[in-house]
Amino acid sequence: MAAARHRAVRLTIYNHKGGVGKTTLTVNVAFALAALGKKVLLVDSDPQCNLTSYLFDDDHVDGFLDKSDGTSGETIWTALRPVFHGKGPVQLITPYKVGEGRVFILPGDIKLSEYELFLSDTWTECFKRQERGFGATSALSNLVNHLAAKTGVDFVFYDTGPNIGPLNRVILLDTDFFIVPAACDHFSVRALNTLGQTLHRWILDWRTIRALAPDRTYLMPGHPLYLGYIPQRFRIYGHGMSRAHSFYLRNLEKRLFRDIVLVLRELDPPWFSTRLKGSKLGEVKDFGKLLHQAELEGVPLFDVSGGDKTQKTQAKAALDQIAKQINGRSRALRRA
Ligand SMILES: Nc1ncnc2c1ncn2[C@@H]1O[C@H](COP(=O)(O)OP(=O)(O)O)[C@@H](O)[C@H]1O
Ligand SMILES: [Mg+2]
Repeated sequence: MAAARHRAVRLTIYNHKGGVGKTTLTVNVAFALAALGKKVLLVDSDPQCNLTSYLFDDDHVDGFLDKSDGTSGETIWTALRPVFHGKGPVQLITPYKVGEGRVFILPGDIKLSEYELFLSDTWTECFKRQERGFGATSALSNLVNHLAAKTGVDFVFYDTGPNIGPLNRVILLDTDFFIVPAACDHFSVRALNTLGQTLHRWILDWRTIRALAPDRTYLMPGHPLYLGYIPQRFRIYGHGMSRAHSFYLRNLEKRLFRDIVLVLRELDPPWFSTRLKGSKLGEVKDFGKLLHQAELEGVPLFDVSGGDKTQKTQAKAALDQIAKQINGRSRALRRA
């Protein structure tokens, strides 16, 4: 019998372009939500393990990777390995508690890139109505569902690698809401077009697959909604943003509307018609050295020991606002 979906909100800060601050935002927003009293599960689903490396030192990360193929493994690969080898369902490992106990992490694994190839096959199997395909394609979603229930979290964040491959496809199809991080360069604006088209195709394909699936199979919902965007890593000039930056932001909003909102609205007209306005969730400026220190200590920007006090206060305010927006909007949209 398929398990019911746990109430935790699944989120992905996603843009297939690399180096746009996905991992940095994911970690820092998770801790900001924890500071609001929420419980959060971080799933490091990028084979490059940058999120795991942010929170743990190198020796710890090496330890995770060295033993992930054995019985005492603790990574995302350890959990998915039985499905990959056709030896049964996911292995329910216990996520790590970090911070003051409200943030949990499922560590990443470099071997996840092999799983990516496997997911490409299982997707094809779904279209051929081969039974393994459905369960295997939804295995990561299923795993996260169990871990969300086990930890009793309010939010789950997936961290993703910079591509539009089969692994990110299953992640986005499990996501309730995606957030677009926008580094202030023209390539990340140009990438929006591919992002919108890709999500549109994945959602449609998954609708076809769902119709082919046997009853009572646990399946990803396949309904990612756009929650908003976060401009990040811009430099502040004088008291506000530079004019070039404001111009950039206006252009970005237009493109988000055209390339994401309008494209996905085709799939779901009633949902989108009333919920388009003001999609900026906040913004995160370039924190330079403070971020470097935060990564060394494995803590969010606002919890760095020492460091520039003004910068820490600014980081706290920016992230707190984003966390409140995410919490408020996701709840309101869920109720709607
Ligand atoms: N707000 C910021 N201020 C300063 N540096 C940042 C900021 N956000 C990200 N960076 C740096 O930019 C690089 C890419 O960020 P990262 O979060 O790893 O992006 P992604 O996950 O999209 O690849 C990293 O070296 C990170 O330290
Ligand atoms: Mg990353």
